[in-house]
Amino acid sequence: MERLQKVIAHAGFASRRKAEELIKEGHVRVNGKTVKELGIKVSSSDRVEVNGIPVEREEPVYFLLYKPRGVISSVTDDKGRKVVTDYFQQIKQRIYPVGRLDFDTSGLLLLTNDGEFANLLMHPKNEIEKVYVAKVKGIPSREKMRSLEKGVRLEDGKTAPAQTKVLSIDKKKQTAIIELTIHEGRNRQVRRMLEAIGHPVIKLKRERYGFLTLQGLNAGEARELTAHEVKQLRALSKS
Ligand code: URA
Repeated sequence: MERLQKVIAHAGFASRRKAEELIKEGHVRVNGKTVKELGIKVSSSDRVEVNGIPVEREEPVYFLLYKPRGVISSVTDDKGRKVVTDYFQQIKQRIYPVGRLDFDTSGLLLLTNDGEFANLLMHPKNEIEKVYVAKVKGIPSREKMRSLEKGVRLEDGKTAPAQTKVLSIDKKKQTAIIELTIHEGRNRQVRRMLEAIGHPVIKLKRERYGFLTLQGLNAGEARELTAHEVKQLRALSKS
């Protein structure tokens, strides 16, 4: 569901403020009924008209990108750095990332123009499983790994239980590759969790988001989600 004025503005009819005026002045109908109050929400199945002209809703699109390192999870960057939407220049819809991966993190990132879908997935209650693979400094002990599993205290509170696996260790270089599965999506969470146990991240990649993986993609490549995958993600985040 999206606010009526936002839908009108998004369709390119008017700015958000002008859209509010159009509503207040009685120019807007929803499913044939004039609506004058601000703040009502409409879904994609509602028919919206401005002065009798149907508002064309942008067709919703859903993509999975294998984000390379060194790219901003945003639609613009004031410093001119590469942003994730640079990989979608041939797409006419205005898509944006669902959540974010850090500049230096690579891996699976979803992008869409469907605000309702993005909000659903990003809602803190929706504990979608995310799997990260991190190269860390040092070789974490069993106790340290267990503390990640129980939850570590960060400045914004204790983390929820996580699953961990040591995938490999390099005794000579004193580094380890570990897999970390978390259900939350706090800012720089994995980096902060590993920092908190004394093993800072050297390299980080998101390998999995729910049931979605990077299979078949190289860094910088994207694919459209299938209708079934979109449906499954919706179901997953409502459960
Ligand atoms: N956790 C991090 O620390 N960074 C990311 O990009 C994603 C999760």
